[in-house]
Amino acid sequence: MNILITAGPTREHLDPMRFLSNCSTGKMGFAIAQAASERGHTVTLIAGPVSLATPSGVTRIDVVSAQDMLAAVQQALPHQNALIMSAAVADFRPAHQAATKLKKSEMDPVLHLEPNPDILKTIFSLKGTRIFVGFAAETGDPTAEAQRKLVSKGLDMIVANDVTAEGAGFAVDTNRVTFITANEQPRALPLQSKFAVGHAIIDWIEAHQ
Ligand code: PMT
Repeated sequence: MNILITAGPTREHLDPMRFLSNCSTGKMGFAIAQAASERGHTVTLIAGPVSLATPSGVTRIDVVSAQDMLAAVQQALPHQNALIMSAAVADFRPAHQAATKLKKSEMDPVLHLEPNPDILKTIFSLKGTRIFVGFAAETGDPTAEAQRKLVSKGLDMIVANDVTAEGAGFAVDTNRVTFITANEQPRALPLQSKFAVGHAIIDWIEAHQ
């Protein structure tokens, strides 16, 4: 299969030196890309700003903002059989982005934001027979919120992670996730490496293609 994976955070700049972002390091998405590539799939990885080496055999496209990531996903999607959105996309961006460094004296202490596009909702009309897998990062039991996102974003499966659980979530090499779908019982996986989680996601996609 051709599999498109997004990874890492997005950055939403106020000026060339300052930005809004989040704690994602890209480890989860890069581990999925490595697992998918080692299984013989053709993998395209769209990465936000991260400091990770590209897994062998994977085509990587670097982006910065949510709008850049949306454009890259829209361009790559027609050639794909499956999409895995593990990126932590910023939901908002500064309403004004300065082309040069803002002086402290020019800055408003109130930050004005505007919503970013929801990538999954924007591309849903292009889904066709493709399998779409999303992630839900929550603090505390992620099940209810993940189920809501599964439906609202038109996903086939959502990988729910409680980012406050020991060994799970941002920046670590392991994760503890639950697979949630519309028709199957939620499947809680044990704490394991992100690479092993990646293999489990690819197993699920291969079984449902
Ligand atoms: O990168 P690591 O340090 O390894 O950390 C891994 C992780 C915690 C980032 C990863 O496991 C994870 O949970 N990624 C998704 C985090 C997230 O942003 O979830 P969300 O609940 O905000 O978004 C739900 C889904 O919608 C996600 O698939 C997201 O990619 C997508 N989304 C979100 C916002 C947006 N504007 N457009 C989107 O498509």
